[in-house]
Amino acid sequence: MQETNHVAVLDFGSQYTQLIVRRVRELGFYAKLYSPDDITEIGQPGAVILSGGPKSTSEEDAPDVDFEKLKSFDVPVLGVCYGMQLLNIKFGGSVKASDKREYGPAMLKPTSHENLYTGISGESQVWMSHSDTVENLHPEAEVIAVNQHGTPVSLKWPENFFGIQFHPEVTHSHEGNQILQNFLSHASDLQPFHIDDFKQELIEGIRERVGTKQVVCGVSGGVDSTVLVVLLKEAGVNVRAIFVDNGLLRKNEAAEVQGNFRRMNVAIETVDASEKFLSALAGKEDPEEKRKIIGNMFIEVFWDAVGDAEILAQGTLYPDVIESASNAKSKASVIKTHHNRVPKILELQAQGKVLEPLAELFKDEVRELGTVLGIEADILGRHPFPGPGLAVRCPGAVDEHRLEIIRDCDAIFIGKLKEHGWYSKVWQAYAGLIPVKTVGVKGDERSYEWATNLRAVISEDAMTAEWVDLPAQLLREASQDILNQVSGINRVLYDISTKPPASIEWE
Ligand code: XMP
Repeated sequence: MQETNHVAVLDFGSQYTQLIVRRVRELGFYAKLYSPDDITEIGQPGAVILSGGPKSTSEEDAPDVDFEKLKSFDVPVLGVCYGMQLLNIKFGGSVKASDKREYGPAMLKPTSHENLYTGISGESQVWMSHSDTVENLHPEAEVIAVNQHGTPVSLKWPENFFGIQFHPEVTHSHEGNQILQNFLSHASDLQPFHIDDFKQELIEGIRERVGTKQVVCGVSGGVDSTVLVVLLKEAGVNVRAIFVDNGLLRKNEAAEVQGNFRRMNVAIETVDASEKFLSALAGKEDPEEKRKIIGNMFIEVFWDAVGDAEILAQGTLYPDVIESASNAKSKASVIKTHHNRVPKILELQAQGKVLEPLAELFKDEVRELGTVLGIEADILGRHPFPGPGLAVRCPGAVDEHRLEIIRDCDAIFIGKLKEHGWYSKVWQAYAGLIPVKTVGVKGDERSYEWATNLRAVISEDAMTAEWVDLPAQLLREASQDILNQVSGINRVLYDISTKPPASIEWE
């Protein structure tokens, strides 16, 4: 379907592209992501944003845009980072290539407080992530902001074309939302975004795509797959929901998940494949190898249970897709392989058998969708849990003994978070294992045991995260209970690493 009056975001491959879409939606307008190669599929947008990207415009295979088509929309256009450099070239300017990267906070100084910078401070922190810079500007290009060194970082060209070198979409750009809003205020009659409309749109898309075919889908009890199944049911699709117990779940999790689905009146089929997973993982230490084993095994077990299915539905979200750059048209680079992107899935995808209705969404948007679908708050409030389960919280080899230790530590820590009213304030929390033995004293005996790492983060989108300053009393009680009750652990550490550079999980 060709859209009208929406905000079309052209994806040049930046890690942050979908964040632009999300910010626009947060500002109340409907935004959709396109590959620059698909510019003819955009319809008649109300505004266009060109994203950043990892390439240099000087590279031979640097992504391009059909400038004539872009101009023909006759709407405001904003180029972000790579997008601005590309626009500068299109307007007859040039870009100075550099292999020196500017990454991190910088100071934005608007030269006028109109256009993009109405209401923006004289000095505003923004986030930069680029190597190349614009030079030789078109005579009609106007510099509308500079950085702390006086270098142009924002341009305005004739007819409402704008460029910004920084990323307004990341939270480190303190006034980024306002700058985006100022840009969008140049557009007229933008299509509004409401989660209810979006739900309806997803349902129509599902019906169109699925028809009378049977859909199978894996459920984990987590927010994404639960919302997915309920959405499929709401769309009236013939769906089988299969729950694979991979042996990498948390304490009592299988029973809890079954109970939750019973409450929602959704029938699920459970397959206990714990032994299979654990024997396939035995002795495997490499994180990527572990992920691939789990992903492939999941498909094997799952497909075995399925028999033959016409369509596989997955609750893949946008951050999952972007970090493994699996989107065939995405120009982003791979960070790690997601379990939804193992070869078998890619094969099914190539055959057009994979349905991922949530792939444009972030976690909190999925929760919002779940709420309008009538899913209960305690289910929607569950912290995210990775598909590869406790294996990514157990660096190195995984076995039942280590998993039991993690389960016990995790249950104590999560119990304390709930007891102290912190569970819902934290985006994700867990206890993992650091399989390194250190010396301690337990009772009157020397102990030589492993450590557990407690991690609690807040995040908006899982792409960045901050550790949570939990009350000392909570940590003290969790530590005390773990040290007293979990045999095999004589040390409790609290992980105070931000993402980046660390990730939320340990593998
Ligand atoms: P990282 O460790 O990459 O995690 O900072 C970001 C978020 O994603 C979750 N995660 C996964 N979720 N399959 C999933 O379904 C996976 O393979 C996977 N790896 C990480 C992680 O728990 C966090 O919420």
